[in-house]
Amino acid sequence: MPAAGPNSHFIDLKDLPADVLMHILETAKAWKQARIGLPKGAVDAGAPLAGHALAMIFEKSSTRTRMSFEMAMQQLGGSSLVMQGGTMQLGRGESIEDTARVISRYVDAVMVRANSHETLEALATHGSIPVINALTDRSHPCQLMADMLTLMEHFGRLEGLKVAWVGDGNNVATSFIEAATRFGFSLELACPDAYLPSAGALQWANAEGGNCNVTGDPAAAVADADVVVADAWVSMGDEDVDERMSALAPYQVNEDLMAKAKATAVFMHCLPAHRGEEVTAGVIDGPQSLVWQEAENRLHAQKAVLAWCLGKI
Ligand code: CP
Ligand code: NVA
Repeated sequence: MPAAGPNSHFIDLKDLPADVLMHILETAKAWKQARIGLPKGAVDAGAPLAGHALAMIFEKSSTRTRMSFEMAMQQLGGSSLVMQGGTMQLGRGESIEDTARVISRYVDAVMVRANSHETLEALATHGSIPVINALTDRSHPCQLMADMLTLMEHFGRLEGLKVAWVGDGNNVATSFIEAATRFGFSLELACPDAYLPSAGALQWANAEGGNCNVTGDPAAAVADADVVVADAWVSMGDEDVDERMSALAPYQVNEDLMAKAKATAVFMHCLPAHRGEEVTAGVIDGPQSLVWQEAENRLHAQKAVLAWCLGKI
């Protein structure tokens, strides 16, 4: 396994080998079990990140990511501080290079939710501490670690599962393509022509022996699926709202579509959700939905990501 060190970034799943990703997930699962019954603010046994500080930079809105990273550092025995991108000198023209150098002098790791993936890469290049991708326009790998933990808990395995992505071929879809390839499940993506998944991600998956296919037909994608996944039709930063609403209307995950998947199929969504748009209330609030467990697992998965980035696991 490649050595984790004080400068191990978590930028995209494709950057890390499957054994490292699986090691992070197994740690997350064990640590989640180990703290059952503890109050949410209690520090884990051994305080794995005692004395360590995380900076969190947000250029976009967040509920889950902000709260789960902050509580992750609390439970690991470390500390965290939040910076809103708009209030930083970055917003007044200070370069990303200088910002990266300065941040590296104050904290041990930095988590970034950036408008542009290039910002994140520049921080990693010019700083000297681990950089964690907390969503960019390209990808959302921390979400996928939580999703994988949830599927491991539910099915007891990832390999061989059949997953259907229905809707916009967006940043979360890109991370799903990378996860499918690293963890060995098949992925059928049903997307309209105007909002196809990243061609580069699909090419990469193909070259790595992944099993990801794109169709325009939601019914074909969900046939025999173990997992059906949806996300918002309009992501943060998207401006073509009307075009999206009409192109994506046939891609709603509703009770009829879920009935075409396996009877044992589960529904996932990274949240926030828009009932009546990408998913009906009957599905997201129904018995097949894993969304609350999925949201909780952001916390558990990220604790292990943080510990790996800082060389503790
Ligand atoms: N799923 C997710 O990243 O949620 P937030 O935007 O609330 O952080
Ligand atoms: N695709 C969504 C995910 C939000 C967590 C967005 O980028 O806005």
